[in-house]
Amino acid sequence: MENIHPIFSKILSRKEKQQFLNQKSIVIWMTGLSGSGKSTIAEGLEKKLFDHGYFSQLLDGDNTRVGINNNLGFSIEDRQENIRRVAEVSKLFIESGIICINSFVSPTINIRQSAKEIIGETNFLEVFINTPLEICESRDVKGLYAKARSGAIKGFTGIDSPFEAPNSPDLEVLTENQNINTSVDKVFNFVLPYISIS
Ligand code: ADX
Repeated sequence: MENIHPIFSKILSRKEKQQFLNQKSIVIWMTGLSGSGKSTIAEGLEKKLFDHGYFSQLLDGDNTRVGINNNLGFSIEDRQENIRRVAEVSKLFIESGIICINSFVSPTINIRQSAKEIIGETNFLEVFINTPLEICESRDVKGLYAKARSGAIKGFTGIDSPFEAPNSPDLEVLTENQNINTSVDKVFNFVLPYISIS
């Protein structure tokens, strides 16, 4: 039989895995409107963390709705289920010592609260990517706002489906008057104390 190094034994704890990776694992949960810049900031953050020796996994609507969540739409119930599964997956990642960067509209306080409960309060940092609807709509990167305004898409967040801003996010990023790098740096500097092993 192949000789398996004890480091890969199933009984290893999160703590041991964190030590192995020389980092503390948490979930960085980004919420905001479609087109607010969440995923762009998340991608920049992943890159910056990597460059500084931190190992992370990015989850967003793009990489989860094509696979694990490909049977879900955008009703409130489906969004709730989307976020429940994502939260459970994130929990597995942090149990493996991996920092999880989640970029989801996650439009209601309830939905985000349920994610926080699954993941655990001490493992969860809520980052509000606060970009006004007018800006998101004027960018309309994916052309979805135009479709929502014309009625071709129903139940679009910010148009005919609610977005409830967080009351007290751990961090708020106002993207309107700053470039991507500044936003990425702001999140990076904020999370650093939470992921560093001192
Ligand atoms: S969530 O509400 O369940 O958290 P999620 O973040 O996975 O949403 O997906 C949002 C992305 O799906 C948007 O950025 C947008 O590209 C696309 N999308 C398609 N239909 C909708 C809709 N009705 N409301 C919001 N986003 C939609």
